[in-house]
Amino acid sequence: MSKICINIAWPYANGPIHLGHVAGSLLPPDIFGRYNRLKGNEVLVVGGSDQHGTPITVTAEKEGSTPAEVADRYHRINKKAIEDMSIEYSLYSKTHGAPHIEVVSKVFTTLLEKGYLYEKETNQYYCAACQKFLPDRYVEGTCPKCGAKEVRSDQCDRCGTTFEPGDLIGARCIHCDNEPEVRLSNHFFLKLSAFSKQLMEFVGDKDYWRPNVKTFTMNWLKEGLIDRAVTRDMSWGVPVPVPGWEDKVIYVWFEAVIGYLSASIEYSKIIGDPNYWKMFWNDTETKHYYFIGKDNIPFHSIIWPAILMGAGKLNLPHDIPANEYLMFKGDKLSKSRGGAIDIPSVLSKYDVDAVRYYLSVNMPDTHDADFTWDDFRTKVNSELVSALGNYYHRCLSFTHKNFGVVPGADPGEGAKEVSDAISSTLREYEDCLSQCDFKKGIRAVMELSRFGNRYFDSVKPWALVKSDKEQCGKVMNSNLRIVKALAVMAWPFMPSSSEKIWGYLGYEEGIEKSGMETVLSEIPVGRALPEPAPVYNKVEIEVSGEDENGGEAAAEGSSFMDFKGLDLRVGRIISAEDHPDAEKLFLLKIDIGEETPRQIVAGLRAYYSKEQMVGKSIILVSNLKPAKLRGFMSQGMLLAADDEALGGTSVQLLRPSEDIPPGTKMNSGLDNSSSVIEYKDFQKVKMAVFRVPSEKIPFNEKTDLPGRGPERIALVLDGGSVVKLSDGKGCTATVDSEIMDGASIR
Ligand code: MF3
Ligand code: ZN
Repeated sequence: MSKICINIAWPYANGPIHLGHVAGSLLPPDIFGRYNRLKGNEVLVVGGSDQHGTPITVTAEKEGSTPAEVADRYHRINKKAIEDMSIEYSLYSKTHGAPHIEVVSKVFTTLLEKGYLYEKETNQYYCAACQKFLPDRYVEGTCPKCGAKEVRSDQCDRCGTTFEPGDLIGARCIHCDNEPEVRLSNHFFLKLSAFSKQLMEFVGDKDYWRPNVKTFTMNWLKEGLIDRAVTRDMSWGVPVPVPGWEDKVIYVWFEAVIGYLSASIEYSKIIGDPNYWKMFWNDTETKHYYFIGKDNIPFHSIIWPAILMGAGKLNLPHDIPANEYLMFKGDKLSKSRGGAIDIPSVLSKYDVDAVRYYLSVNMPDTHDADFTWDDFRTKVNSELVSALGNYYHRCLSFTHKNFGVVPGADPGEGAKEVSDAISSTLREYEDCLSQCDFKKGIRAVMELSRFGNRYFDSVKPWALVKSDKEQCGKVMNSNLRIVKALAVMAWPFMPSSSEKIWGYLGYEEGIEKSGMETVLSEIPVGRALPEPAPVYNKVEIEVSGEDENGGEAAAEGSSFMDFKGLDLRVGRIISAEDHPDAEKLFLLKIDIGEETPRQIVAGLRAYYSKEQMVGKSIILVSNLKPAKLRGFMSQGMLLAADDEALGGTSVQLLRPSEDIPPGTKMNSGLDNSSSVIEYKDFQKVKMAVFRVPSEKIPFNEKTDLPGRGPERIALVLDGGSVVKLSDGKGCTATVDSEIMDGASIR
């Protein structure tokens, strides 16, 4: 048994994580962690939210909120998104917390005592107009190395160069666009130069590192290491543990990397084994892996190792498999520069394992990869569904139907061909996964499923079952062994669907417990097989113009424009019945002031009883194209808020805040079209419930930001602007009880 410490780059908590983060640095370590657990290795997986630095303060200023509020909100949202992507950590921590701050202070003090940190007056950008120092992201300009425009003053996103104040060409203050001056300020410096030789040795024998990581690091070292300022002139961050330094904080990169250690210690305390972390950090047998994006390379291959060397007796990185970028329409998927595809929108449309599959086969491991919804559909439908899913289902359903149990053992001729295919796939798979070549690993799995399909076709079980049922049982036993091998090997990539297959094979304990050996083992004959269902389904995406943008168009289109197309009406529920054969659906009759009531099919049975529904005032999208839902026409849709994407469990119907008659328009006085709209038009409108100042106090759309008052009101959101959902005369749309701020309306 080996010990593996998996360290995952900490995403900034200044916005929701998106598919770029998942493909770049979050999914690979999850695959690797699961693979190692299958092998029976002892695995610790740590990471969390990076909550300090100018990424957070700049966002807070833009929003008019506080850094703490931003950092905690996105910590919650991102933690939930990570769980929803089935990405498992031992601990997903955060940097703005006592456990982290305590460890950072200790490391800082140790380095100070050992003379690896020293004070020096240094140049900092200072904006005379704004009268303050401007760290990192507060200054933008042109990269002197690669010429990229609008890069931040600490690092170039394009070429990875890190800067010192004064390096940027044409520097600008992001607040006022004036050119900042460079002024002196006192700071602590990390004596990087003292580690040059040790670092050279450390990197020297890392022949197995990815070429981009090794070359980048070597170039940095060869250029000569310069000491770096590790404190900043700002107030949000980890305090400098030295008296007199109250107006400065530790540089975000210096403290965030220490998070790997602090989260390991924190986790050990949580599990009641406070020394647990030591076997990962002090025992030199343990291997440390760091999963990061390429812009993080120097911080993990040079600065963090230097800190570890300085602190002493702590394990250095074994491998740093940095990924390149996932590009969306040719632009880096970056939440701070727009173009994001957030996890809740993606998972509301697609199965998590289909998304994990696509990101695995399209992983930007050695070069940038392009993400398009068209390619997503093609790969899911023509590979995942047609090869793997189809093979699973034809084997399982055929065996279930004709035998009901795992049929006869297989000593026959064909068996060798099957065993050989399984064991050679396993060898290749292990080669790939142990070297973090996940893309090739999943390809090997898919190849085996194609072999399986060919084998199935060649042995013709559908004919054999009539002519020689015993022989048919033998070949199906072989097929099930392939199914079993596939489910185990696919598990690190697509855990939940693989577990389902495992269940259809009649296993009671999960795949992880069964372990990697199960790939080669016999399958117990005579065991009862439950009735299977397909685990992968084809995805339908229209590829007309805007749909090519997928979730992005839905998230970023002009919400007000689309809102104007909705005809929203107050309605009263006259009756509610259970749908005869869909357990989540109600059939409702709703009075909206027209001659005949509307029939609506609504998926609300999990949240409301019939008694609660009848008589209730609601808000209806009345011009939605009528659609048949499980056999019944639905002439419109009720608006409800739900906070699931934020980690909550509340679902609340919207209702008018006052008793106003059915049929009243709730379009906030904005012109509405009377033409019929499609569901996808509705989806483009962004609406959410927020607390806002009381109705009695006039609400100023420009300055009263959501999240600041006692009343819950539905708002239409469009970039930074908001409009209350209302009848234009003071009656707004609200909900009956508790729901989290920002709960989205659908
Ligand atoms: N927050 C950084 C980013 O998103 C990554 C920090 S990784 C850590 O690029 F090592 F500092 F934790
Ligand atoms: Zn300024």
